[in-house]
Amino acid sequence: MNLTSNQSNNTLNIMNTIFRDFIHVFSTCSLVLVVSLIGTQNLLANNGNDLWLSNHLSKQVTVIGSLKTPMLQLAAKELKNGWQGRDGATVLFTIKKDKSIKLDGFRLDSNRIQSNSELGILYGVYDLLRRQQTSQPIGSIVSNPSYELRILNHWDNSDGSVERGYAGRSIFWRGGGTQLSVTEGDRLLWQKYARANASIGINGSVLNNVNANPQALSIEFLQRTCAIAKELRPYGIKVYLSINFSSPAELGKLKSSDPLNPEVINWWKSKVKEVYQLIPDFGGFLVKANSEGLPGPQDFGRTHADGANMLADALKPYGGIVMWRAFVYSPSDKDRAKQAYNEFVPLDGMFRDNVIIQVKNGPIDFQPREPFSPLFGALKKTSIMPEFQITQEYLGHSLQLVFLAPLWEECLQSDTHQEGDGSTVAKCTDGSLFSQKHTAIAGVANIGLDADWCGNAFAQSNWYAFGRLAWDNNLKSEQIALEWLQQTFTPDQAITKKITPKNWQDAFLTPVCQMMLQSRETAVNYSMPLGLHHIFAGNHHYGPGPWYAPRGLRKDWTPPYYHQADSLGIGFDRTSKGSNAVSQYHEPLNAMFENVESCPENLLLWFHHVPWTYRMKSGNSLWDELCTKYNSGVNSVRGFQKTWDQVQPYVDKDRFLDIQHMLRRHTRDAQIWKDGCILYFQQFSNMPIPLEVERPIYDLDVLMKMEMLYP
Ligand code: GCU
Repeated sequence: MNLTSNQSNNTLNIMNTIFRDFIHVFSTCSLVLVVSLIGTQNLLANNGNDLWLSNHLSKQVTVIGSLKTPMLQLAAKELKNGWQGRDGATVLFTIKKDKSIKLDGFRLDSNRIQSNSELGILYGVYDLLRRQQTSQPIGSIVSNPSYELRILNHWDNSDGSVERGYAGRSIFWRGGGTQLSVTEGDRLLWQKYARANASIGINGSVLNNVNANPQALSIEFLQRTCAIAKELRPYGIKVYLSINFSSPAELGKLKSSDPLNPEVINWWKSKVKEVYQLIPDFGGFLVKANSEGLPGPQDFGRTHADGANMLADALKPYGGIVMWRAFVYSPSDKDRAKQAYNEFVPLDGMFRDNVIIQVKNGPIDFQPREPFSPLFGALKKTSIMPEFQITQEYLGHSLQLVFLAPLWEECLQSDTHQEGDGSTVAKCTDGSLFSQKHTAIAGVANIGLDADWCGNAFAQSNWYAFGRLAWDNNLKSEQIALEWLQQTFTPDQAITKKITPKNWQDAFLTPVCQMMLQSRETAVNYSMPLGLHHIFAGNHHYGPGPWYAPRGLRKDWTPPYYHQADSLGIGFDRTSKGSNAVSQYHEPLNAMFENVESCPENLLLWFHHVPWTYRMKSGNSLWDELCTKYNSGVNSVRGFQKTWDQVQPYVDKDRFLDIQHMLRRHTRDAQIWKDGCILYFQQFSNMPIPLEVERPIYDLDVLMKMEMLYP
């Protein structure tokens, strides 16, 4: 079902009003009142459209101080609408320079929000409300963002489709020509999107696919971009566009797009001028160049730096930036994992200060587990930003429950050792270790026109988690999950007659949070344990296909290239005897990854080709361990089904049934992963499946024919 924001759910609003005081009561633990309130109602539909921002009737609050601008008035309105603190309280907004407040950060206590900027006040309001709703302490807090730019990347095409999107069509583009008029429904939808982003600190949106069409810079496209920017601006969100490097030739009809050609340079200058005339606060360009068949400066014998700098020079007078992606690889390279490092490290220090190199968390491509990209910390004189994938391209689309904060936390907290111990990816990218003119982080969005925006309720948690980690790259996954659950499944949407704060905590929050925290490792276990990667059956990137190798297809697009299974063992040898990708990591990681004994077992087959009989730390042979991991992955998802069924009394019917249904399919597909991979690899290991492991229920030949395409 598709629903745009203007189709509001009146029933929900009315029912929310009935429970207006529940949240406050909940936080002050007035159990008796809670029980009687809840006991009178039991039907609340919830299609998830309100995300983590459900309406709650507020207590009385007066806002004083600076309220001069529309953004401050918006901040005051939000505070009044959501206030759950002391009834009759007064809150003071102050815009005042303070050395301890950075960027759009803020200082806050229960009756004052101070910031250097209006946007900081708005963020302070959302933070205060979040704290009230999740019963977190509100002492004297200073909160500064880890990154200056916190950006969603939408892989949306102008025809309205979304690359790797699993939640319906684009919220920005509709097809049929982007010149189609902007409707009131569009505007309301974009406002709602902007508000959700601002509530978690996101301040930028790239509106179109990195596989950009040159038409993205056409006047029709720019006009719609301008209309989107207008709705996002009040919430402090700048718009950016992905551009195609051949735009001068394709759109401008020039003979070339060579970045050193004066005509090309001028074309970009006048195009940028046109953009800023329409959108004075335009953020800049995102560029995928010389990657997966897209054009780029190398087509003209130039470097990434030549290409990026030419664009940066055009954007500089207006304060715009270039986010230049390091996701590059070609079929010629022997180890795809090494290519980005090889291409970008020699260019360190050669980029303009308004260029940021955007680097995926791992060296291959958003796999369920990868080591961090060795570019983090290796680029020392160039701004660099992490790119995470919120949409679950390789982690079950919107059909599987996978909470991604643990994956991102693992990456951010990985120690690169580049500047001594403790040089985490977080510190290598947020300006703590290297002086970067700009700091930034990007997440590939999972948002579409579906009523719940993301395809299922739990997929929303990944949007939320990205924003929260972009604001504070030291947050723990558990805190994020708990916060999100408390705001998303607030008890006023529960249907039980017997809910109390204590049993909500024990019977709902704790087990569901546990399930979320386990879900990423679970996905690794039933799909690609022990460092296996990229073994999907084709381009849909959903189901297993370790056997998938159609004749004529580029080797690096086939799973056997990655798993290298043979009668001796399995895994990609990236040691000095193999591709030597280990050499791209700083000591002591280089030595640690090089040695099979010291290599972390969760990355073993990423770095080593290991004999089937190799003894693992558990005492199991590698083969037995692999089977055991697949088995535990499936068992965990079965556990999620039980956990979810147990929390039925605490969840509204719609979302309960939706997730119950999803988990059924999730389990079935996890089983297919397990059976497909175990039976396929067994042909090489020639070893029996350990008896403790559940027997396969599918036949390999059936699975090999089954495409498991996204339905
Ligand atoms: C992956 C994904 C593509 C995407 C690419 C990118 O390869 O499958 O759809 O275009 O990443 O990040 O550019």
